[in-house]
Amino acid sequence: MKRYITTPIYYVNDVPHIGHAYTTIIADSAARYFRLKGYDTFFLTGTDEHGQKIEEAAKKRGKSPKEYADEISAKFRSLWDEFEISYDKFIRTTDPEHIKGVQKAFEIMYNKGDIYKGTYEGHYCISCESFFPESQLIDNEFCPDCGKETSIVKEESYFFKLSKYQERLLELYRNEEKFVLPKSKKNEVIRFVESGLQDLSITRTSFSWGIPLPPSINDPKHVMYVWLDALLNYITALGYGTDESLMHYWPADYHLVGKDILRFHAVYWPAFLMSLELDTPKHIATHGWWTRNGEKMSKSKGNVVDPKAVADAYGLENFRYFLLREVPFGQDGDFSQKALIDRINNDLGNDLGNLLNRIIGMSGKYFDFEIDSKDVAKYHQNELDAMQQILDSLDGLVEDMKWNRYLEELWKILTIANKAIDTYTPWTKMKEGKEDEAMALVALVANILAKVAVMLHPVMPKTTQTIAQALGFTIDRNAMQRLIEQKELLEAFTIQKIPPLFPKIEEPLMVEKKQEKKEEKKEDLISIDDFFKTSIKVGTIIEAQEVKKSKKLLLLQVDLGEEKPRQIVAGIKEFYAPEDLIGKQVCVVANLKPAKLMGYVSEGMILAAKDEDGLSLVTPEAKKVNGTPVR
Ligand code: MSP
Repeated sequence: MKRYITTPIYYVNDVPHIGHAYTTIIADSAARYFRLKGYDTFFLTGTDEHGQKIEEAAKKRGKSPKEYADEISAKFRSLWDEFEISYDKFIRTTDPEHIKGVQKAFEIMYNKGDIYKGTYEGHYCISCESFFPESQLIDNEFCPDCGKETSIVKEESYFFKLSKYQERLLELYRNEEKFVLPKSKKNEVIRFVESGLQDLSITRTSFSWGIPLPPSINDPKHVMYVWLDALLNYITALGYGTDESLMHYWPADYHLVGKDILRFHAVYWPAFLMSLELDTPKHIATHGWWTRNGEKMSKSKGNVVDPKAVADAYGLENFRYFLLREVPFGQDGDFSQKALIDRINNDLGNDLGNLLNRIIGMSGKYFDFEIDSKDVAKYHQNELDAMQQILDSLDGLVEDMKWNRYLEELWKILTIANKAIDTYTPWTKMKEGKEDEAMALVALVANILAKVAVMLHPVMPKTTQTIAQALGFTIDRNAMQRLIEQKELLEAFTIQKIPPLFPKIEEPLMVEKKQEKKEEKKEDLISIDDFFKTSIKVGTIIEAQEVKKSKKLLLLQVDLGEEKPRQIVAGIKEFYAPEDLIGKQVCVVANLKPAKLMGYVSEGMILAAKDEDGLSLVTPEAKKVNGTPVR
């Protein structure tokens, strides 16, 4: 059995942050889990170093793109090394083997007729390295993904015949139920593909920091689109197009990705692979975003969480546990020190750490640390069965990347142990002279801790090894086989004292830079009294005419049930013909100070909702008496 797991390759225009650490730590936990299961596992990570964004970032710093990429790539690598990420290969898209492999893939797709030359004109976002159709832009100008300004780019380009693969992609989604994980995310991919795939522009001429086309095509103006280059890393890392020595790991079992890059992995990537006649990956496992006080993290807001600072302050493994436990896989999560501290003090300190301390204490006090499991089944078959049922469910949760559920289930096993102590109170058994029952209980709990430690090992490798040491064994493949797969108990063993693993944290250990953000948010909220200061009423438009010389304004008379109609100047001319408005009911802000617009006094404001599809007036769902208040 083999497992091939990848992280996205990280752009070198930014230093690592918590989002990068999250993907990498999930992938690392999965790789460690699969190795413990005895699977032949290959875990890939690396950096994505080409493209206009990197070229520009380097220029700003007065460096060549390669110099700059070397520097940031090394930062990623050294952070992962410091975090003891167990990657088998760290790929860089500037590696010569990668470049050769990408050129080879391009050549194959070209020779097959899946790549052709044409012209591209479109709105391009440099930051996302993506083109967007006008319909998707915000205010006709800004990128729908990152909100930055886009520019119109017209250039000669090679295209990949993505449209040709539309049906095969849909078939893939239909046949492979778990192609996208969590399953709930698959629908958005299907909708995107069903809405019609356009061929994909896969080369650029507007900058030069990219992989040149293969020599056989000889078109030096062009470099490859960074996403084509980047996605292919997953096979070039295995030697595709060069020595092919690791290609037996293909197809990937898990591509871990953030939700922002799902489309690239679930649509473009399988289409490229179909063109190359290679298998498609088994799962695109998609996680959500980490936010700060509900906001997206960004350098400009100064709210980016530095994973190294968190690990230094709170302990790397506690941080790993928190990341995996705190949010359901696929959903967004908010990072706060409070949430992290709660997890450490409660889950780790109280539930796990205290249980271990209690068992060390009792084993010392009653049995001089010498424990024997021989009577566990005799007195505690129910507890063993309940634990086994949970243990049996864990594998499926990892296969679905549901790490938070996985940890939740493991903690249920700890509850069984804590409950058993409270129910069977070994101290009374000792008083009653029922030493073998007390021993069975202590041994039960020690065995529960041993099994939990083995299963928690992928997430907390060192801490669990310390727990195992206290229980007189070592976590390795053999322990996994014996304690989990063959359901054995530790036989007779000596417990060792260890210092407390999770000292209580009383207050935040990191100084927060940007506390003001929170307060600003509070100020945005209004009280109900503030809201009621605005008088909104239902009215009927009884007259409508154009305001001459104005592109936007209409002059309306609106009956608000008052003595005479209100005159309102509304900026809706682009969306409504005057004659269509007569008789329409609308919602009007009735207590605004009158204002003059293009020479006309306006005695109120009409409410409307506007997005990229246009403007709609807010109207009551059923006809209401004019003057009815809206609240
Ligand atoms: N270079 C591309 C990936 C190419 S893979 C063939 C890229 N790089 S990235 O550095 O911008 O992002 C890498 C990963 O980090 C993505 O999966 C992205 O979702 C993740 N994160 C970036 N910010 C994040 C958060 N705030 N929270 C969680 N993950 C997010 O995209």
